Amino acid sequence: MALDAQLRRALAERIRYYNELGIYDFYRRSGPADEPSLADSAKDLFRSGDTPHLAGDGARAKLIQPEEREDMTRRAAVARRVRDENIFEVAAEPEYSVADPAKALKIIREDLGDCTRCVLHKQGRKQIVFGVGSPRAELMFIGEAPGADEDQQGEPFVGRAGQLLNNMIKAMGLQREDVYIANIIKCRPPGNRTPEREECETCSPFLMRQVAAIKPKVIVALGAVAAKTLLAINAPMAELRGHWYEFKPTGVRSDDPSWRGAKLAVTYHPAFLLRDPRQKKEAWKDLQMVMRELGLKPPARVAE
Ligand code: URA
Repeated sequence: MALDAQLRRALAERIRYYNELGIYDFYRRSGPADEPSLADSAKDLFRSGDTPHLAGDGARAKLIQPEEREDMTRRAAVARRVRDENIFEVAAEPEYSVADPAKALKIIREDLGDCTRCVLHKQGRKQIVFGVGSPRAELMFIGEAPGADEDQQGEPFVGRAGQLLNNMIKAMGLQREDVYIANIIKCRPPGNRTPEREECETCSPFLMRQVAAIKPKVIVALGAVAAKTLLAINAPMAELRGHWYEFKPTGVRSDDPSWRGAKLAVTYHPAFLLRDPRQKKEAWKDLQMVMRELGLKPPARVAE
């Protein structure tokens, strides 16, 4: 049974709250004999007043009575099904135990497989565009979705917008290989239409895992779709730009307790800048804000 969008969002919010407290695994201690529906289970799991218990800690071992075990096994199976429906993204992901970010990214890519989780797999995509760059990047750029060139080559930002992004990166005194580049969704939408909310919600958990594996200091959201999806706020670009946001990837944990999340800035999408080059000045202000944060100096001469 699928959960409605409102309940999904409410659950995601509650999960985020518990994750921020360092709590990732959830159990319910008692319940009716018949297996509840997913929606009932999910509601029950997050009923206010329920106390979640950290898996594996000493306190939990003391709390679990033998007669509760069977019930918990059944609940865990329900929780797995809930996670498989993509609303309960807190179970351990296979890369959590891997310290090397390159290996972690490889595991995430393998987990993604030849993805058929949303409709885009049957709407003319040639290939999945996972992401490119340094697995240890301090700076990550996140765009919207692959276009025709990216779909052909399997790499984000390789078309005209990509050339401009490369110039923006160079202007910051960096090379494309120094940063990591990805998109909110990994498959080209037909006719380059804006991604649907459902597609973003289905795909973005993989992006969240990429962010948690890379642990960048700074993320730059390129354009309104990336900004609104990452920040979960609906505001015009004029309001979104020019500020720092604290960003923690939703529903995932990092293997590194010293990484508390990234700072996120918003700037114009390079494709927009190609259409309206007068806005490049504004985008440069955004990038300078990022450079100050990362202690970067522009090269003596910036190539056009
Ligand atoms: N536009 C995007 O948002 N991403 C790409 O990879 C290319 C163009």
